[in-house]
Amino acid sequence: MAVYSAAAAVLAGVESRQGSLKGLVYASNFQNVKQLYALVCETQRYSAVLDAVIANAGLLRAEKKLRPHLAKVLVYDLLLGKGFGGRGGRWKPLLERHQARLKAELARLKVRQGVSRNEDLLAVGPKPGPASQVPRFVRVNTLKTCTEDAIDYFKRQGFSYQGQASGLEDIRALKGKCFLLDPLLPELLVFPAQTDLHDHPLYQAGHLILQDKASCLPAALLAPPPGSHVMDACAAPGNKTSHLAALLKNQGKIFAFDQDAKRLASMATLLARAGVSCCELAEQDFLAVSPSDQRYCQVQYILLDPSCSGSGMPSRQLEEPEAGTPSPERLRALAAFQQRALSHALTFPTLQRLVYSTCSVCQEENEDVVQAALQQSSGAFRLAPILPSWPHRGLGTFPGAEHCLRASPETTLTGGFFIAVLERVEVPSSVSQAKAAASELTPSPAPKRRKRRRKAVAAPGTQPGK
Ligand SMILES: C[S@@+](CC[C@H](N)C(=O)[O-])C[C@H]1O[C@@H](n2cnc3c(N)ncnc32)[C@H](O)[C@@H]1O
Repeated sequence: MAVYSAAAAVLAGVESRQGSLKGLVYASNFQNVKQLYALVCETQRYSAVLDAVIANAGLLRAEKKLRPHLAKVLVYDLLLGKGFGGRGGRWKPLLERHQARLKAELARLKVRQGVSRNEDLLAVGPKPGPASQVPRFVRVNTLKTCTEDAIDYFKRQGFSYQGQASGLEDIRALKGKCFLLDPLLPELLVFPAQTDLHDHPLYQAGHLILQDKASCLPAALLAPPPGSHVMDACAAPGNKTSHLAALLKNQGKIFAFDQDAKRLASMATLLARAGVSCCELAEQDFLAVSPSDQRYCQVQYILLDPSCSGSGMPSRQLEEPEAGTPSPERLRALAAFQQRALSHALTFPTLQRLVYSTCSVCQEENEDVVQAALQQSSGAFRLAPILPSWPHRGLGTFPGAEHCLRASPETTLTGGFFIAVLERVEVPSSVSQAKAAASELTPSPAPKRRKRRRKAVAAPGTQPGK
């Protein structure tokens, strides 16, 4: 694979938080690891500058086949790196056609910022938007450790535990090596935004999952009790599946589907690292999974987190508010799939509770999809009233839409997200209990800030399989 395609794939993986830069570089199988690593690092460093230059030069509008991550890597090398030299393949002539325009946009940016060297653009940089203030959320994987032990491990590493946050203000004020327990989710630790834990031994050993708070809510709100059967309809790369397994305590069954073989392969690695043993993975189109298949006759819980525009993902909100805005055609296609998937999920005969989530902020992929599926279910399902104290609610586009949750860097200090919980109108009592437990997640008492030393978390590798 040419270095540019490899770098684009790694960059996309890092931005969608599929792994650490280093891990993805090694997983790419690209021979010259050093060259690839340097190219991605530098492209990332100039990310905001490159986004601005590419957008202002209209490169992606003019070259429809050029994907954004590849464009970024190529433009980095053309304008700021070593130049293509003998590299670049078929992209070289294409980029060279736009070279003058791209150079002019870079020059214009420097004039606007009042700097003369490329390097100086980094120092001035675009003003950090609210997305860059989203803290680093860390979910403790209770299949492998517990919150107290994880907290103790960080304390021994010189981090200062500030106790449980009482609200967003505590989280906003976090800095340096301080960390908190989330006010809502009892297994979620919160660190300052710039904390990078991808190389942390507890993360490498699967004791910690680096997962945004909003993305932890779907499994927490589905709240399947241990022993139950759950379906994860669009599951890869598997962060929510591993969360479901932790809630099930590995007891019961998760049927996880995804139609992307590559993503499923990294999901298998993630699940093994997280100690998940109750999950059956299948490379399959969820729309083709039959509701009358006897294997699924006990499935009462479905998590549906389908492909979406990703317009709520923080990395896309940094510089160009328009950069994450999908075209109307793409939105229509996505929404059509999402609605088919949701309506299909609601036809599983034993289903009692379903969580629909996206990392999109577009009404078309969220409230509109839920409204259409509810209408199609002819009153068999309704929106469950969840987390009444959550500050950001669904857009009031239909009666009851306020039961949906939205999330954003500005309102909840998370990525942009949408969640709806649908429940069957007639619910048997066991599910009512789960529903009641999840309607206002009440964390167990937070581990206190203590001086006393506690038993160490097993150093990764010392207790294999734990
Ligand atoms: C937003 S991602 C899921 C993220 C995942 N829930 C997690 O938390 O890690 C959407 C996934 O849906 C998968 N997908 C898209 N269409 C599908 C289909 N028809 N059947 C099954 N999976 C599908 C994509 O391959 C992608 O991996």
